[in-house]
Amino acid sequence: MAEKTRGTKTARAEDVPMGPTGRPYHGFPTPPALSSHGPARIISLCNQKGGVGKTTTTINLAASLAQYGRRVLAVDFDPQGALSAGLGITTHDVPTIYDLLLDTKRDPHEVIVQTSTPGLDVLPANIDLSAAEVHLVNEVARETILSRVLRKVSGEYDVILVDCQPSLGLLTVNALTASHGVLIPLECEFFALRGVALLVETIDKVRDRLNPAIELDGVLATMYDPRTLHSREVLERVVEAFGDDVLETVIGRTVKFPDASVSGVPITQFAPEHAAAQAYLRLARELVDRGAVA
Ligand SMILES: Nc1ncnc2c1ncn2[C@@H]1O[C@H](COP(=O)(O)OP(=O)(O)O)[C@@H](O)[C@H]1O
Ligand SMILES: [Mg+2]
Repeated sequence: MAEKTRGTKTARAEDVPMGPTGRPYHGFPTPPALSSHGPARIISLCNQKGGVGKTTTTINLAASLAQYGRRVLAVDFDPQGALSAGLGITTHDVPTIYDLLLDTKRDPHEVIVQTSTPGLDVLPANIDLSAAEVHLVNEVARETILSRVLRKVSGEYDVILVDCQPSLGLLTVNALTASHGVLIPLECEFFALRGVALLVETIDKVRDRLNPAIELDGVLATMYDPRTLHSREVLERVVEAFGDDVLETVIGRTVKFPDASVSGVPITQFAPEHAAAQAYLRLARELVDRGAVA
């Protein structure tokens, strides 16, 4: 009888239903509790295309990992500040990540904010961050500034998620340089793969020149609608391009996400029983199972 071993769990292939990526769809075991915390594994969520689910994934993956007892820091690295807003944090007239980048002697604890989700903290951003690239371009070791900021707090967290802006500029290079891993969210829509080659090239350059250890932790299909042939075809093409790097967990398209963002809480809090909340909890379990998160 064919048996498939994965992590600590053993399941017969025929017990596991086929998933949307064309592979068996595992539930993944509940991650064991951690007896101590840190140092953090740092993961950037990157795609220079906007509206693919970077921020939504950062918020809900962060909340899901926190729900499993991980200490999580979510870093808003987009001047739009959508991550901060989506977690109900006001960023008007408060210190932000921008202040830490400009003065690396400053203590990040003065900037970190607790969220309503236990175990989930945020380094907020606002529109000030849009000036960062101009200010930092003449700095010595300008690509390693975020890395130096996060080093000061990484001992206190199990995972740090960096929500990148939709560009491959200096901020995103800083995020990649600071990271152990990168997650690429891809929307199951026309042109999902357009530009991804350039993103992979950027990751390769960062690996070559700045951060030899960076790994591709996975490609996450988002906004999947199983009722449309189109969505299924795009997902098929993504699997052709990335193979086993495509995470088994696929995030479906639902209006619950915009609704949750407006309320300023993760979907795991807004609608815990909804399939979309369950999908992000499953993503968290899959990443622990893959060893991307402690
Ligand atoms: N799975 C989904 N289904 C439906 N809408 C989604 C989903 N994921 C994200 N959205 C919505 O799509 C928009 C863009 O998502 P966002 O996470 O902000 O993308 P990005 O950070 O890549 O620009 C937001 O309005 C968000 O609420
Ligand atoms: Mg975003």
